Amino acid sequence: MAFNTAGYNIVDHDYDVVVVGAGGAGLRATFGMVQNGLKTACITKVFPTRSHTVAAQGGVGAALGNMAEDNWVWHMYDTVKGSDWLGDQDAIEYMCREAIPAVYELENYGVPFSRTPDGKIYQRPFGGHMRNFGEAPVQRACAAADRTGHAILHTLYQQSLKYQAEFFVEYFAIDLMMDAEGCRGVVALDMATGTIHRFRAHTTVIATGGYGRAYFSCTSAHTCTGDGNGMVARAGLPLQDMEFVQFHPTGVYGAGVLITEGARGEGGYLTNSAGDRFMERYAPTAKDLASRDVVSRSMTMEIREGRGVGPEKDHILLHLEHLGADVLYQRLPGITETAKIFAGIDATKNAIPVLPTVHYNMGGIPTNYMAEVIKPLPGKPDNVLPGLMAVGEAACVSVHGANRLGTNSLLDLVVFGRAASLRAKDIVKAGATHRPLPKDASDLALSRLDRIRNANGSLTTAAIRKSMQRTMQNDAAVFRTAKTLKEGLDKMGQIAGTMKDLKVSDRSLIFNTDLIEALELDNLIPCALATIAGAEARHESRGAHAHEDYPNRDDANWMKHTLASIDEAYKVKLDYRPVHTYTLTNEVQYIPPKARVY
Ligand code: FUM
Repeated sequence: MAFNTAGYNIVDHDYDVVVVGAGGAGLRATFGMVQNGLKTACITKVFPTRSHTVAAQGGVGAALGNMAEDNWVWHMYDTVKGSDWLGDQDAIEYMCREAIPAVYELENYGVPFSRTPDGKIYQRPFGGHMRNFGEAPVQRACAAADRTGHAILHTLYQQSLKYQAEFFVEYFAIDLMMDAEGCRGVVALDMATGTIHRFRAHTTVIATGGYGRAYFSCTSAHTCTGDGNGMVARAGLPLQDMEFVQFHPTGVYGAGVLITEGARGEGGYLTNSAGDRFMERYAPTAKDLASRDVVSRSMTMEIREGRGVGPEKDHILLHLEHLGADVLYQRLPGITETAKIFAGIDATKNAIPVLPTVHYNMGGIPTNYMAEVIKPLPGKPDNVLPGLMAVGEAACVSVHGANRLGTNSLLDLVVFGRAASLRAKDIVKAGATHRPLPKDASDLALSRLDRIRNANGSLTTAAIRKSMQRTMQNDAAVFRTAKTLKEGLDKMGQIAGTMKDLKVSDRSLIFNTDLIEALELDNLIPCALATIAGAEARHESRGAHAHEDYPNRDDANWMKHTLASIDEAYKVKLDYRPVHTYTLTNEVQYIPPKARVY
């Protein structure tokens, strides 16, 4: 049915499931739903194989034990410890156990993994992955050279085509449709034609990725604008643990492009201006393969104490040249090319200049391990909101807690993308009749679209975005203080207020990138606010949140998840919910917080 409201042409669709986003998590959810007999639409603002999963490099974690003895329980222990005891242990158990069949499933689907001489999946060491409860590094990252995300994304897209999943490509999701019970679907703009599409679904799955672009320097694609998080916040639902933003130690200095941790896994190491391998001092056991928060903080300390490299003494060097051209071309071809393009460096001969760069959002839309979105109620911290799921970086399951281990992101995508489809099979009846939509179901989406498209203030999207990115980069950084966080929170409040003065110059509806960037900025703003408000309130240091005025982890007061709700006036309200310190089965016991040993 097509009709016209406020000058917009509206097309209605009915599906069992609609998935928003076509990265690794969105694709795995999409074809899993179709496999399970559910009529499913996948809507995506970029062509699926352009999704940011394509940029993941070093590997997908699973205790296959192809290189040396390994065990999923050790993987679980490392993940809980890496999360700085903020991860939910039931979900972590599920992920680490399911990792092994998930990787073999990927192999069977056709992912071209690198191979050992005897034909097994090649695995490399990665930060924080250890054998026997922290004894020594273990090779757990299943790699396709240094293009693992690329290989997985293309394979998952091929599987989606095999199952004839229905794609709506270059459709931009504007807002969720909600009623008193829960989520009823999503409203999207077809960027090519300017038509509005209302997708009615029994379950809507948000798989829109992270919001790295709230920061000035990040490894994330320009498309990582927290679109799902923005929609959820506007629907009156909380975002969880947004203060935990991961800095990857090795972004190319000046460009921010990722140099995989797999480079250190293959034997690369970091030095300061004195040529000192400083990680030996900060993490005597794991050294350059300590978890990312530790390496990023150590690099920042070296720079702060005047031992940075270069005329400005503002970066660190990553050495790979000793590995030899054969290893670089065989195991790390992508980053060898990246170093040449973005740093002008021949990595076979010279060290690469690097700097910690925003890489991953541990926080997001709270879910349980079955991908169902949580809307806590008084006395019911795990209350499920009907009709809405979230997977991948947009979600906070929480398997990464305060700090994600490298390779657990690709793993999270495939394990929880699949989990969403399994849960939907249980709770959605294929072809069931839809209740009529409330009359005002698409009002929020259309009025917001119309307001932004006709915004006639004095500030461009680029100007407001730059203020936000600079503020987040400076005031919600690797190290944070009460002063920077308070100032940053005030500044972010003011910047959010300037959205009233936004100017969009192009009023058309056909491939209007001015409008799309403004809508994306409108999604980034609540993400940035929730991040800095949660950080300002958290008076401890944990994982990626390094608070100089509260340098210790405080389990008695702060072993809890932050919930941030943002209202229309951009006011952030904080609440908290307990961490799941229980496991799913009796095979493993709760892993209690211990003194940190690196
Ligand atoms: O360093 C990397 O290859 C990144 C991997 C990850 O974030 O999991």
